[in-house]
Amino acid sequence: MQTIFILGVNGFIGHHLLEKIIKNYKVIGMDVELHRIKSFLTDENFVFINSDIHDLNLIEKKILQSDVVIPLVAIARPWMYINNPLRVFELDFEANLPIIKLCAKHSKRLIFPSSSEVYGMCTDDLFDPNNSNLVLGPIKNHRWIYSSSKQLLDRVIHAYGISRGLNYTIFRPFNWEGSNMDTIDDARDGSARVVSQFLGHILRGEDLKLVNGGLQRRCFTDIDDGISALLKILDYPEISSSKIYNIGNPGNDYSVKELAEMMIDLARDYGIYSGSHIVTVHQEEYYGEGYEDSLRRVPDISVTMRDLNWKPEVDMRSSLIKIFDFYVK
Ligand code: UGA
Repeated sequence: MQTIFILGVNGFIGHHLLEKIIKNYKVIGMDVELHRIKSFLTDENFVFINSDIHDLNLIEKKILQSDVVIPLVAIARPWMYINNPLRVFELDFEANLPIIKLCAKHSKRLIFPSSSEVYGMCTDDLFDPNNSNLVLGPIKNHRWIYSSSKQLLDRVIHAYGISRGLNYTIFRPFNWEGSNMDTIDDARDGSARVVSQFLGHILRGEDLKLVNGGLQRRCFTDIDDGISALLKILDYPEISSSKIYNIGNPGNDYSVKELAEMMIDLARDYGIYSGSHIVTVHQEEYYGEGYEDSLRRVPDISVTMRDLNWKPEVDMRSSLIKIFDFYVK
């Protein structure tokens, strides 16, 4: 049985991944918190380490005990890119870099999360991991610090691949959404990602705010589709080696305004609608200075589908129903 080392196992992606792999793999999971993974603590295939990403001596020991390393520690909320850009750089870039180096040093397979954010304001109809340009705005728009941190890590990993033989797969999630993503309390200050942000407003009877009118579009991807692609990456080490995969659902391409309307309709069906309205706010009012946005973001998933024998299955409404079920309960 292979051993997988997941850093950030208590996070949104980490705990969903743990749930799906724990029967077939030994998992060493590291995190500073454990509220999402309590039910796994007694599983004989799971070892939990309550430590943070800066303890490199401990991390090196665990890397040596593992076959595959999946570092999932990162801040991935745009509100934080604007309000604490240095923290995003320190955690997402600086803290992850030594882990990449350790994987190269010890010849361990690395499966690394990039982001749809790296494409920035690319104008291609479909974002192609091997051909699309990565288009970011000026430095004063520090929203792009996450995107550029992730981009540079992708480039470093690629360079370790060609220069030092690092065995890696990079994956780019496109707006994965699901249960236990952000907490509903994250949504109080406006810092959650849009789906949990809107749900928090609905539950508290607050207005849903469309930044700049909400015409910007995203391809929302159910967490179960995301995790099933990761399982395929684990299953196909050879074909997925040295590859970058978009993992998203082009069938769930909706504007933020459409999302808000869908969620209000669903809230009515659930009997939890208590008067929230949809309003428009300007980006500076919502995020402060330094924001700039991707207006359209559709992944080309042809290579992901072909290589991994995978396709996204969960449509938007079904995905939102799963999320409502989780949070409303
Ligand atoms: C996200 C985050 O950067 C990461 O979670 C991730 O790496 C990546 O995209 C991804 O998963 O693909 P973004 O899609 O901008 O970025 O994140 P959200 O905060 O969910 O915002 C989506 C859109 O909704 C943005 O255009 C934002 O301006 C808008 N929004 C958000 C509103 O109109 N109102 C709100 O209350 C919140």
